[in-house]
Amino acid sequence: LRGDQVIVVSNREPYIHEHGKDGRIVVKRPASGLVTAVEPVMRACSGTWIAHGSGDADREVVDANDRVAVPPGQDDYQLRRLWLTAEEEQGYYFGFANEGLWPLCHVAHVRPVFRESDWEAYKAVNQRFADAVVAEARSEDPIVLVQDYHFALLPAMVREKLPNATILTFWHIPWPNPESFGICPWRREILQGMLGSTILGFHTRFHCKNFIETVDRFLEARIEHEHSTISFREDETLVEAYPISIEWPADATIASWPSVPEARRIVRERLGLQPDTTLAVGIDRFDYTKGILERLNAVERLLEKHAEWIGRFVFVQVAAPTRSSLEEYKNFQERVERLTLRINERFGRPGYQPVHLLAQHHDSHAVNELLRAADMCIVTSLHDGMNLVSKEFVAARDDEQGVLILSRFAGAAREMTEALIVNPYHVEETADALHRAATMPAAEQRARMASLRATVREFNVFRWAGRMLTDAGRWRLKARVDA
Ligand code: G6P
Repeated sequence: LRGDQVIVVSNREPYIHEHGKDGRIVVKRPASGLVTAVEPVMRACSGTWIAHGSGDADREVVDANDRVAVPPGQDDYQLRRLWLTAEEEQGYYFGFANEGLWPLCHVAHVRPVFRESDWEAYKAVNQRFADAVVAEARSEDPIVLVQDYHFALLPAMVREKLPNATILTFWHIPWPNPESFGICPWRREILQGMLGSTILGFHTRFHCKNFIETVDRFLEARIEHEHSTISFREDETLVEAYPISIEWPADATIASWPSVPEARRIVRERLGLQPDTTLAVGIDRFDYTKGILERLNAVERLLEKHAEWIGRFVFVQVAAPTRSSLEEYKNFQERVERLTLRINERFGRPGYQPVHLLAQHHDSHAVNELLRAADMCIVTSLHDGMNLVSKEFVAARDDEQGVLILSRFAGAAREMTEALIVNPYHVEETADALHRAATMPAAEQRARMASLRATVREFNVFRWAGRMLTDAGRWRLKARVDA
């Protein structure tokens, strides 16, 4: 694949230019698992990343072709921005992608909304991005990396114009079973669009199986279970599991971090906590799939069951605002705020507030500091493709201390088996896990953490991309030989 052109297409851009308070332009990194994972891969292979230009200063830094070299100052690859009108963004992004597909694929008991007008916008925007891919292609067979549920139709659209392209589509969220998916009015169109891909990747075998069964149910396609391939019309698609991961921090990066005792002190001081407070952290987008209410219930139950923790146990939830104009998100945020207030009223006292809800975006430095200061990290997603916070937590803990509490409904639970695995719907079990984490001997923490670290270090994001690209290389060779 050396020398081949790589084009990434995603909705969310890896760098957002915005006007700061003083009017100067600042660059922000979005809170997105997709961006966290794909960005280091793009830095390594250069090429072009096409995404929606969403920052209010984005237009001011691009050239005449809407391109800007990133990361700022390093210029490893090109970011090509595509501008969406407010109406397009409403229908395609907020509407079909986030009110339709997002709840459809996450079984989180939020009803998907399917509006005809959103679907029309989704189709039109997929076509606009597909046209941009074709315009950026310098040969008839580029490697196109399509990211996520915003672009289910794009693979077939690109395939039509560039029949020899190698199209690798990665679906970053779960894929539900055929019954659940079947309620989507445009289920056939979506499946057909995705089958324009050469390779279609999910995080787990389970999601692959769900997808193949969904195709089997709704399309006339030939399925080769043994090879995990689907032949539909002219195209053959390999459906494979590629568990996504993070970039393992370099030694120089680790050397630049504050020491763990230092981070513990800084964070406890900043939050006004006692130096010996047992600290649990949660880091999420403020999203109803993340199980934030469930983990608050567990914290409340812990304080009920084990009064000895009152005054000594604090839970800090970072919740980065996300998709806040949508009703479901607003309601959810209010419910979390109300529950936080209730727990604090019930168990708080002068100088002690059991739950700190920080509903702001925290940059990677601040997140790392919290993860290093914590005694445990709580990930209780109700359904999650992978969940990278769990991997970031263990990467942050070179002291081999700290306990990961992880939902069995996150893809990460398949690999990170030394975590305390919980069913977040089971309050008692989750509360018991909090107690167990808070009382776990240092030696057991070390054994679990060392093993988790070894896994994530080995199965890092370059392994994820490498496996996909190796499969693509094999596929290209086969296509050339067949031709
Ligand atoms: C999930 C999705 C990503 C998305 C991210 C942030 O991780 O899989 O595609 O970028 O959430 O959401 P947002 O809507 O802000 O891009």
